[in-house]
Order: sequence, then structure tokens, then C-alpha cells
Amino acid sequence: MDVDSSSELCGRCHTRDPYNRIMASNGYIRHHEQYDEFRHSPHAIGEGNVPGCNDCHDAHASVVIDDDAIGTGVTAACTDCHDATEYALNGNTPPHPAFVECTQCHMPKIGRSAKASDSNPKYVGDVASHIFAINSDAVNMEDGMGILADAASFIKTDEQTGLARITLDWACYRCHNDENGDGGGGSTKSLSELSTMADGIHPASTKSRGIASR
Ligand code: HEC
Ligand code: HEC
Ligand code: HEC
Ligand code: HEC
Ligand code: HEC
Repeated sequence: MDVDSSSELCGRCHTRDPYNRIMASNGYIRHHEQYDEFRHSPHAIGEGNVPGCNDCHDAHASVVIDDDAIGTGVTAACTDCHDATEYALNGNTPPHPAFVECTQCHMPKIGRSAKASDSNPKYVGDVASHIFAINSDAVNMEDGMGILADAASFIKTDEQTGLARITLDWACYRCHNDENGDGGGGSTKSLSELSTMADGIHPASTKSRGIASR
């Protein structure tokens, strides 16, 4: 049999909008939109050996559902392609003091399917994002992504490239918390304090920072 291993195949179901706009409602990206997010990510827009769904996933194994095999459906680590030393956080000045997985910052749970986290409902939904790129500016999800607390919207994307970018409240407040105390159990950090650390957080990276600026 011919096997179609294109991202478009997965995108026949993992989508919500015929134009692949990323739909959000009531504070979260809506669920089963991985293809829409992916289409606005550097992995669809970038050049070179960019991964599609099946370069990172084994479609016959589980990422979240099968209790005995959680995570076996993920077959590629970010550092299979992105150099681990270049992207280690200890290269930063000052360094981020704690080890954090790539996916914890770059694939935060911005989507909500059933319910958000009990302990951190504002910043942790239940579906990991596939936007991947992070905006290091001191803007919140409303201004930076167009995610509104009490209405439906489409995620903002760069007019020229189509790139969407995750704001720092999603990338960082799963661990840190904001001035109102919303967020994780780590230290309180304003968006501008986060931005100071986040801007150029991988100083050893040889990439031109940000496909958005192309
Ligand atoms: C015919 C529709 C359909 C197609 C095509 C499809 N999926 Fe899914 N997929 C679903 C549904 C329905 C779910 C469960 C509901 C959900 O999680 O949104 C799901 C769940 C998943 C999950 C999370 C569940 C888990 O434990 O792993 C992953 C990962 C996934 N699909 C990857 C893929 C990939 C990769 C492809 C392309 C090879 C693909 N899917 C193609 C319908 C589909
Ligand atoms: C199969 C190889 C591969 C894997 C696995 C991979 N990437 Fe990428 N990634 C690429 C390529 C190629 C580009 C595009 C580079 C370009 O065009 O400059 C890219 C681009 C990016 C960019 C944008 C870079 C820029 O210049 O702005 C980010 C952010 C990123 N990847 C994060 C991740 C994260 C996080 C993971 C793990 C969840 C990951 N990548 C896994 C190959 C990969
Ligand atoms: C660069 C690698 C990469 C690419 C490309 C990628 N994924 Fe994923 N995906 C992951 C990782 C890693 C996770 C687990 C994230 C976590 O839980 O921390 C994941 C999780 C998922 C989930 C479960 C989300 C949840 O939290 O319930 C689904 C569904 C999924 N991917 C579908 C897709 C589809 C469909 C595509 C293509 C449109 C795709 N992925 C492309 C790496 C990737
Ligand atoms: C997985 C959890 C986690 C994530 C995600 C995370 N951090 Fe941290 N961060 C920590 C821990 C743990 C510390 C050290 C104790 C503390 O300050 O809470 C820390 C400390 C810091 C500090 C204080 C540094 C110092 O020397 O005093 C800054 C600034 C910071 N993080 C910025 C960020 C930014 C920016 C992001 C998002 C891009 C982020 N963090 C994401 C866990 C995390
Ligand atoms: C503490 C949160 C955090 C962790 C952990 C993290 N990143 Fe990043 N990453 C960011 C932020 C914030 C940016 C945007 C920096 C900017 O715009 O100046 C970024 C940018 C990037 C970029 C695009 C820009 C560039 O310089 O090429 C890539 C690719 C990337 N990270 C890969 C990774 C990989 C691979 C890992 C794991 C080894 C990782 N990141 C771990 C926060 C993080």
C-alpha cells in the first residue's frame, strides 16, 4: 500500500479551520488544532530539514492516552536537530538558574480540551502547543497573541511570514507567577523581568534570531 506520511494527512483531522487560522476561545487555544498551529510555526515556515508531524511522532504509539506507554509516540527530541550546547540555558548571562526542558518553554499547554490545571488554570490548559516559536517581548497573551479571556478570536500571526509566537506568560508562568499571584509555585516575575531574561536567552545560538524578521 502507498503510505501517506505527510503532515497534510494528519491535518485532515487535527484542524479546526478551513483556512488553518488558529482559533482561540475564553483564554485558551481550542483543542485538536495541531495542524493549524504547525502551519504557523517555524517548522512549516522555516528552511532546511524542517520536521513534519511524522518526523516527531510515531502515529501508532501514544503521547498522552495510553497509560502504559505515555510519551512513546514522540520519536524525536528537539536536540536531535537543534544543538544541545547552543541551546543550553547556562550560556546566558545571568544563566537561568534551573534546568528546564525545551518543551516546557516551547510547547506549553496553551490548548484546552476538557479542563485547565486546577492549581494554575490561567496559564496551563491541557493540550501542548505546536507553535514552538517564543516572543521575548514583554507582552501578554491578549496583546501578543490575541487570546481573550472571555471571547473567541484568531491567534495573531506575522503579516509577512505567517509566523505565530508564544508569549512569555505561557512560556514562563507554568513555573513562575505574575503580580496577581496567578501561575506556578516559583518566584514572582513581571513580564518585563521575564523579557530581560528571555531576550537572547540562547546567546550561543548561531541562528539569525527569529524567522519573523526575515
Ligand atoms: C481520521 C482522523 C485522524 C487522523 C487522520 C489523524 N488523527 Fe491523530 N487523533 C485523532 C483523534 C480523534 C484523536 C483523539 C482526540 C484528540 O486528542 O484530539 C487523535 C489523537 C492524536 C494524538 C494524541 C493521542 C496520543 O496519546 O498519542 C496524537 C499524538 C496524534 N493523534 C497524532 C496524529 C498524527 C501524527 C497523525 C498523522 C500521521 C494523525 N494523528 C492523524 C484523529 C486523527
Ligand atoms: C527534524 C529536525 C528538527 C526537530 C526534531 C526540531 N526542529 Fe526546530 N527547527 C528545525 C529546522 C530545520 C528549523 C528551521 C531553521 C531555519 O529556517 O532557520 C527549525 C526551527 C525552529 C525554531 C525557529 C528558529 C528561528 O530561527 O527562529 C524554533 C523555535 C524551533 N525550531 C524549536 C524546536 C523545538 C522546541 C523542538 C522540539 C519540540 C524542535 N524545534 C525540534 C528542525 C528541527
Ligand atoms: C518538532 C516535533 C513535533 C512536530 C513537528 C509535531 N509534534 Fe506533536 N508533539 C511533539 C511533542 C514533543 C509532544 C509532547 C509535548 C508534551 O507533552 O510536552 C507532542 C504532542 C502532540 C499531541 C498531544 C497534545 C496534548 O498535549 O494532548 C498531538 C495531538 C500532536 N502532538 C499531534 C501532532 C500533529 C498532528 C502534528 C503535525 C501537524 C505534530 N504533532 C507535529 C512534537 C512534535
Ligand atoms: C519548569 C519551570 C520553569 C520554567 C518553565 C521557567 N522557569 Fe525561570 N526559574 C525556575 C526556577 C526553579 C528558578 C529558581 C527559583 C525561582 O526563582 O523560582 C527560576 C528563576 C528564574 C529567574 C530568576 C533568576 C535569578 O538569578 O534570580 C528568572 C529571571 C527566570 N527564571 C526567568 C524565566 C523566563 C524568562 C522563563 C520563560 C521563558 C522561565 N524563567 C521559565 C523555573 C522555571
Ligand atoms: C526557559 C525557557 C526556555 C527553554 C528551557 C528553552 N528555550 Fe529556546 N527560547 C526561549 C525563548 C524565550 C526564546 C526567544 C529568544 C529571543 O527571541 O531572543 C527561545 C528561542 C529559541 C529558538 C529560536 C531562536 C534561536 O536563537 O535560534 C530555538 C531554535 C530554540 N529556542 C530552541 C531551544 C531548544 C532546542 C531548547 C532545549 C535544549 C530550548 N530552546 C530551551 C526559551 C527557552
